[in-house]
Amino acid sequence: MGAAVQPALGIDFGTSNSAVSFVGPQGLARLVSLEGEATAMPTAVFFNSEDHSTHFGREAMALYLAGVEGRLMRSLKSLLGSSLLDEETAVAGGMLSFKAIISRFLGELRGRAGRQLAYEPRRAVIGRPVHFVDGEPERDKRAQAALEQAAASAGFDEVSFELEPIAAALDYERRIDRESLVLIVDIGGGTSDFTVVRLGPQRIARPDRADDILATTGVHIGGTDYDQKLNLEQVMPLLGFRHIGPAGREVPSPAFLDLSSWHLIHWMSTPKMLRQARDLRSSYADPGLHDRLMTVLEQRLGHLLATGVEQAKIRSSVEDRTAQIDLSPVEAGLRASVSATDMARHLSVLLERVVDCAAECVMRAGLAPSGLDAIYLTGGSSSLRPFQQALRSRFPSVPVVEGDLFGGVASGLAYVSQRR
Ligand SMILES: Nc1ncnc2c1ncn2[C@@H]1O[C@H](COP(=O)(O)OP(=O)(O)OP(=O)(O)O)[C@@H](O)[C@H]1O
Ligand SMILES: [Mg+2]
Repeated sequence: MGAAVQPALGIDFGTSNSAVSFVGPQGLARLVSLEGEATAMPTAVFFNSEDHSTHFGREAMALYLAGVEGRLMRSLKSLLGSSLLDEETAVAGGMLSFKAIISRFLGELRGRAGRQLAYEPRRAVIGRPVHFVDGEPERDKRAQAALEQAAASAGFDEVSFELEPIAAALDYERRIDRESLVLIVDIGGGTSDFTVVRLGPQRIARPDRADDILATTGVHIGGTDYDQKLNLEQVMPLLGFRHIGPAGREVPSPAFLDLSSWHLIHWMSTPKMLRQARDLRSSYADPGLHDRLMTVLEQRLGHLLATGVEQAKIRSSVEDRTAQIDLSPVEAGLRASVSATDMARHLSVLLERVVDCAAECVMRAGLAPSGLDAIYLTGGSSSLRPFQQALRSRFPSVPVVEGDLFGGVASGLAYVSQRR
């Protein structure tokens, strides 16, 4: 087979998880097994400073959680629209820009796919959210350009982009048997994206689907924002967030905001930030709370807290009850919890903005909510119980279909690649 006819990869480079797909000989998208059998791989990189090795996905998470010395990077996609992107950071004895780290991750996806495909992939269709950055088109363009450069340095000679919700729609279309107007809802780790599309078995083969896309909207809110909010409300107060100091003022909040943002956690343990955090001691009335903050920063426990909050969010949502967070690595016997009521209360403002964005999409499509035949849910955070409640109460008469949460976007991207 010549290089020109090799199928392209569909790459869903997600804030939390990534997946890769290609169209197989039968014309159906197949997800690549990226880690053992698993087709979704956490978007995580770990630089081991003991032996200078680099690890990806679940393995990266496991080494970090086992306490191996090194740096864990998560939510790399959140850095794409930020000014930090070209900054260099110290990893395993060297300096790397965040863009170069993204490129290493994409190169790893390419390598793993290549081992399964028995050819070296050179072409890719990469998914992108409707907005990398809300309300700033220039920064948004730069984010896509940076991702394209990272893909090029990872060895992809030909790269194109498609909106993630449109890719999800094209995957769902293979599973329906009649023409329908569908609101596609993709709630991931970093963004919530929507599209209203006309789908149907007779429409799949149409060369140009632009007429079938009635509207798209997106907002930069996702599961990592829910994690941050729950972390701030349920865990950070134990470290002094909103604590009133001897002068009657709250301890300054930036340290807590950064320590609960997945993509900034590593930054909080740099020497400069450690010095600043030590200086906060005089703002505390209770030095025990400051001791906990310093333990978290000095022992680099930020990801452990964020992971604990994320897991509690998921458990509390799935089981509809209170989930505990073990904080004993910070202090013996210390714990926090997330209840269903905490979630509903703390997340309601964010969830309303997400549901407003869905309603805006339907309005831009020129439809009343009752004009939809179905709502299709994809992305890990679309499972969140209070989100589903908010969505169903805004669209009470529309049937909701739960789809492939972690693989749909990548499969849709592989179908897109066939047309390019
Ligand atoms: N059962 C669940 N209930 C609620 N949230 C969940 C559940 N399972 C996973 N999540 C959340 O889903 C998010 C990851 O979803 P997904 O893998 O679809 O995102 P992504 O594609 O990486 O992000 P994005 O598309 O925004 O770039 C995480 O925030 C995770 O905490
Ligand atoms: Mg996604």
